Amino acid sequence: MTAAIRPTTNDQRPTMRIAVLASGRGTNLQAIIDACDQGTIPGPVVAVVSDNPKAGALTRARASGIPVVVLSLRTFPTREKFEQRLVEALHSYAPDLICLAGFMRILSPSVVQQFSGRIMNIHPALLPAFGGVGMYGEHVHRAVLDRGVRVSGCTVHFVDDVPDGGPIILQAAVRVDADDTVATLAARIAEVEHQLYPEAIRLFAEGRLLIDGRRVHILEERERGIAGTWDRDLVGSEAGLE
Ligand code: GRF
Repeated sequence: MTAAIRPTTNDQRPTMRIAVLASGRGTNLQAIIDACDQGTIPGPVVAVVSDNPKAGALTRARASGIPVVVLSLRTFPTREKFEQRLVEALHSYAPDLICLAGFMRILSPSVVQQFSGRIMNIHPALLPAFGGVGMYGEHVHRAVLDRGVRVSGCTVHFVDDVPDGGPIILQAAVRVDADDTVATLAARIAEVEHQLYPEAIRLFAEGRLLIDGRRVHILEERERGIAGTWDRDLVGSEAGLE
């Protein structure tokens, strides 16, 4: 049986509900919002959740009229309660995809399992190098410079139980210059991140990302919809995969 291919023109395309979790400046969030506005991702971003009331991401969300949820870990008696509220908040927006974009909390396995295969993250290095616990923000670029590698980059991956260890979707390499500082390297990588993350989301939206153990197969454009988990009309037997 062949897959039912949905109309793909901008005005007829089904929309995908994206929730973004962010703790910082929110430049990746902005890239996602812009891609939705430009129609390269069939958005919208339906909610931005932050654990940092001062996050620039919240300002960006509000400027675009996107609902925000602020959950400060220290206002919860336990991490479990924090995560419980986080999960409730996410479910209330019924997201098809959850994008971590500089979210400074590691999600526990129980949270990840509830949205299995539907959480993505972007990391500012070429995983599996320079990833894992403690490898976030400037620490990553500092480690890259200290190790003297010639090439760094960024990685978009699905989130699983292992921090920065989930199936890799896309990577892009960025050169490391001899006179780079943490700031110059971070800026060069950020520019590429803003292209790569929307691209990964677009592939997901088109149902072209097939998770196969630790690998992600990127299906051809003509196969779009086959791997789709967000567009339930297209998955499983109807897509001829069972
Ligand atoms: C990015 O470098 C991303 O790779 C990492 O956190 C940073 C977030 O930056 N996970 P921004 O808040 O999107 O500007």
